[in-house]
Amino acid sequence: MSDPIWEEWQELSKDYNELETVNGSYLKKLAELTNLQQTCLKHIARQRNRLKMMKKIVKQLKREVNADKVAELKNYIMKREAELQVIEQTLPKQSRKYLKIVLGSIDVSFLNKEDKFKYKDEYEKFKLINHVIAFFLSILNLYYDFRPLQLFYVGFLVWYYCTISIRESILKVNGSRIKGWWTLHHVLSTVGSAIYLVWPENETWSQFKSQFLWYNIYNCLIQYLQFKYQRGALYRLKALGERDKMDITIEGFHSWMWKGLTFLLPFLFIGYFFQLSNAIVLYKLSYHPQATWHVMFSSALFFIFFVGNTITTIMVVPNKIREKMMFQYRVMTQRLYNVVNEKVAKINLQRK
Ligand code: COA
Repeated sequence: MSDPIWEEWQELSKDYNELETVNGSYLKKLAELTNLQQTCLKHIARQRNRLKMMKKIVKQLKREVNADKVAELKNYIMKREAELQVIEQTLPKQSRKYLKIVLGSIDVSFLNKEDKFKYKDEYEKFKLINHVIAFFLSILNLYYDFRPLQLFYVGFLVWYYCTISIRESILKVNGSRIKGWWTLHHVLSTVGSAIYLVWPENETWSQFKSQFLWYNIYNCLIQYLQFKYQRGALYRLKALGERDKMDITIEGFHSWMWKGLTFLLPFLFIGYFFQLSNAIVLYKLSYHPQATWHVMFSSALFFIFFVGNTITTIMVVPNKIREKMMFQYRVMTQRLYNVVNEKVAKINLQRK
């Protein structure tokens, strides 16, 4: 071997030794990190257990005697719960059953806040883009009675609902407070769309088809309004958690949110009545001589959507009023955390 190439080998080996050392300390830190994460999770579980017991005791305390103390303790407990929620956001979480079945046992938690924000933002954009596509497909199907186009459309719906139910489950693992009903709604919508895929092309389908397409067109319009509201909330919540963004306050956020909800709710309830009307029309169609099981099944699903959506949406308002204090504590804790993190990052930078 010639000398220059030998020298290069030596240099490469030295570089490799360095890599081994760095990798060694990386693995050590990784083990330390996993240990710290486990310890934090154990602390959180312990805190939650004891808070649960304390809540029971507080409920039994005689209010007339200790009114002030009971109120103070209740407030402290609520504050601690908000703090635990913020800490939990920085730790990995176990996937739930549905995700485990679909994706297997992989860790889908983001530990970085910016990544979480991006994922949620992408999810909202993904929903909007697919509803724009669904909107045009519905209109095309309304004007062209072409079976392959109909099958393509409902196949697209099956794929869409399946995908968003997975994305929502990933969001939940990462601390999103999406109500279980909405995820279930999207799983049931996957089933519902699959039914249209196998519904035979007979008289019942011909009679229901245009109502189904108009319902979907209306749904796409609602989704646009929901997108505007959810994206607005997402960016405002992000700004609220950052202390330097003083142009947004908790009160300001609430007033924007109530305005948004007041505008959105009437459109949502019209949509729910559309679902009820679909259920009734399908129920009547189920007595048609050519009716197959798809008609009754679809009617039952629309009725379930009507009931589930109406109850969940009606509950949004009292829930928001009840959780107002909790929301404030969460935002305040988040701000405090961001300040501490910024300071730690600055100290680390100066040390380097
Ligand atoms: N789908 C997915 N996520 C939803 C959701 C929905 N329908 N409704 C709320 N969320 C999410 C929010 O983005 C929030 O996420 P985050 O914790 O990651 O920030 C979380 O759930 C908690 O939301 P919440 O505070 O309870 O409500 P909100 O103010 O965000 O939204 C509504 C309230 C009523 C506007 C919303 O629930 C909604 O649009 N519901 C109607 C959905 C519907 O009926 N679809 C069918 C149309 S026919």
